[in-house]
Amino acid sequence: MQTKSHPGLQRVLVLGGYGAFGGRVAERLAQVPGVEVVIAGRSQDRGLDAALELEIATGKPVTARRLDAASVTPADLTAIGAGVVINASGPYQSQDYRLARACIAARVHYLDLADARLFVTGIRALDAEARAAGVLIVSGASTVPAVSGAVADAHAAQFGSLSAIASVIAPGNNFDPGLATTRSILMSLGRPIANGAGRAPIFGWQGLDRRRLPGLGARWIGHCDAPDRDLFPQRYAGLKVADVYAALEVGPFHLGLWGLAGLARSGLLPHPELMARPLLATKRRLGFLGSDRGGMLVSMAGTGRNGEPKHIDWHLIACGGHGPYIPATPSVLLAKRLVDGTLQKRGAMPCVGLFTLSEFLAETADLDLTTGTQ
Ligand SMILES: NC(=O)c1ccc[n+]([C@@H]2O[C@H](COP(=O)([O-])OP(=O)(O)OC[C@H]3O[C@@H](n4cnc5c(N)ncnc54)[C@H](OP(=O)(O)O)[C@@H]3O)[C@@H](O)[C@H]2O)c1
Repeated sequence: MQTKSHPGLQRVLVLGGYGAFGGRVAERLAQVPGVEVVIAGRSQDRGLDAALELEIATGKPVTARRLDAASVTPADLTAIGAGVVINASGPYQSQDYRLARACIAARVHYLDLADARLFVTGIRALDAEARAAGVLIVSGASTVPAVSGAVADAHAAQFGSLSAIASVIAPGNNFDPGLATTRSILMSLGRPIANGAGRAPIFGWQGLDRRRLPGLGARWIGHCDAPDRDLFPQRYAGLKVADVYAALEVGPFHLGLWGLAGLARSGLLPHPELMARPLLATKRRLGFLGSDRGGMLVSMAGTGRNGEPKHIDWHLIACGGHGPYIPATPSVLLAKRLVDGTLQKRGAMPCVGLFTLSEFLAETADLDLTTGTQ
């Protein structure tokens, strides 16, 4: 039976709403007038605790539901009565589209924070069903490809020919990633990354290099698999390279993952993701190393409109522990626009071109973020 939302409020269900990023999605949405957040996950107790905390902080109703993405049905969603579902559960590498399909059947909009390349690009397979149901189904509403894509869109017109985009994601060490992010990273260690015709083979968290990042100093970088690698060459005619790197703040942590990637690649460590819990616990104990400063860099290269070589480095520096709000913001922004009716797009698609860089910066204006171009 459907439970009625509070008068004047539209429900947004955040699956994984007590996780590291889902918690921040829920926190931001709970502050939005007209939105009633429903926090869901497989633990009713953790959901209730998180809901109570948000109710106290906002003075608005926040509810909790036990829900498993692996067994959710359209009837479950209809009973909850949400107009938008945000899937912040992960790791998406091991998920299918069951939840997105349930949303289509229940005529509910769906957004997720996926970083898994095939999961994000494959969402287009649901396009016809989503259009027929009149809903928006979006995968990858997070740092990559959504924020990196908004940065690229904002600067692409300055190029006569854009040949390369390289993004570096550089979190601060005091951020506590969740188990899903840890598993997602470990799953990618040493795995081959499809790298485009004619380019040398690359592997997850290998390709060790040193890079100076504006405001963050020099960090080690390593290859990441991300949807940008497929989506950007489709979006920008003539683009040959769309690289994505990760750069941990604490050098020995980065070098440790690089070493594990080598073991995984050689076959000596076939399932590094099984080490997620002990590695995360160790990282948490060492959270005092490093700082609350993180950020990202998007470098674009090609020729300018006058045919001269052109290079733009766009950077973002997040202080005060605000970095983790970056991956949380795209889904918040889109959910708000679906709730207030200003986002009319329907169908199933990866999250590129659905908001502008200016809209992202307006949404994060209260956070301690600095951006600039060089
Ligand atoms: N695209 C990007 O740029 C980007 C950036 C950052 C993060 N991410 C992705 O975001 C995901 C979430 O990361 P996180 O660090 O927030 O993870 P987390 O802290 O482990 O949170 C995951 C949440 O999902 C819930 N959950 C897990 N499996 C579930 C299931 N089957 N059904 C319902 N709820 C489930 C968990 O609670 P229970 O276990 O109690 O159910 C938890 O609340 C990761 O996969 C990460 O890779 C993407």
